[in-house]
Amino acid sequence: MSIKDEMTIQEEIETPRSPHLLSAKNIYHIYRGKAERASVVALKGVSFDLDPGEFVSIVGPSGSGKSTLLQIIGGLMRPTAGAVFFEGQDVTKTPEEELTMFRRRQVGFVFQEGNLLLDLSAFDNVNQSMALNGLPYQHRKKRTLELLDLMGVLHRKNQIANRLSGGERQRVAIARAMANNPKLIIADEPTGNVDFTTSVRLLELFKELNRETGMTMLSATHSNHVAGYADRSIELRDGLLLGLHGKGIDLAQLDMSRMVVMDSDNRLTLPANIMAQLGSFGGLWAIDVVDQSKILLTPLESLTEQAPSIISDTETKECPVCSTFNPIDGQFCISCGARF
Ligand SMILES: Nc1ncnc2c1ncn2[C@@H]1O[C@H](COP(=O)(O)OP(=O)(O)O)[C@@H](O)[C@H]1O
Ligand SMILES: [Mg+2]
Repeated sequence: MSIKDEMTIQEEIETPRSPHLLSAKNIYHIYRGKAERASVVALKGVSFDLDPGEFVSIVGPSGSGKSTLLQIIGGLMRPTAGAVFFEGQDVTKTPEEELTMFRRRQVGFVFQEGNLLLDLSAFDNVNQSMALNGLPYQHRKKRTLELLDLMGVLHRKNQIANRLSGGERQRVAIARAMANNPKLIIADEPTGNVDFTTSVRLLELFKELNRETGMTMLSATHSNHVAGYADRSIELRDGLLLGLHGKGIDLAQLDMSRMVVMDSDNRLTLPANIMAQLGSFGGLWAIDVVDQSKILLTPLESLTEQAPSIISDTETKECPVCSTFNPIDGQFCISCGARF
């Protein structure tokens, strides 16, 4: 090894800074069933990175795990397994008090319902989020008025949130989310409850903010509009990262723009449209690399019949993530997909 190589490696060890604002690593989440309700594996090993200043949307049908993922990214909930690095710090391991500070200072949340305190005025809703961070009143007042103005709701500053229209509430919610100048805005179906015209205006505002302030935006949606405004989209399906999409996607035609992703655990999820074309779910396949750039899958029908049963009656062990019993020679949990 040359001296230069050794120096580069040494520098990397000493300064392990990643260029990403955020990295989600192999996130699993299980909602444990109570009484007769079965446990739900909502996320099955999701990994992705967000760079500073990006506007990214998470798309996928209802129940695919979007809200669960956003809550984990924003430190509102801890995952069952996996890690979320925010500027290099793993927020999933951060003690509760520090995590509260992280949420207040680094992340702004906007939810479908507007997450405002309904009996406080528009002004107080924005102002109060800064008070929690101990900023002096004059500073808070100035910023609150600026933000309400930017959102086009300054004239409604004294109205209690309960009396605001859905669109006005969302504008105040965005002002509130931005008040502490967070590095990341997390928005869960932010235009879910507003009419079309308002939703277009809100998205333009998001886009302007993203461009002008450089705040990173991560938004979950099944609205074509929201997704269309993002720089790129992450597609979830049944708790798995199914693919990535570039700018200007059409949710009705995701099959046209999807790029599949080999995740950090070397797993590749094949989309349903490809599986349907292959005409076979499950079974055994021979896999080969062609021309060093293409993967060739060949069905092995004769072997399928001889394939050993993967469930053994006696030799099983419990999955550390979802507690399902698995054959001891398996590498992945047959229920939630965790590695063990
Ligand atoms: N609090 C909860 N308790 C039990 N199951 C839940 C809870 N929240 C969500 N789920 C389940 O987890 C899965 C993912 O849900 P969610 O993250 O809300 O998806 P999305 O936001 O994409 O609609 C769904 O099957 C949903 O029913
Ligand atoms: Mg949701």
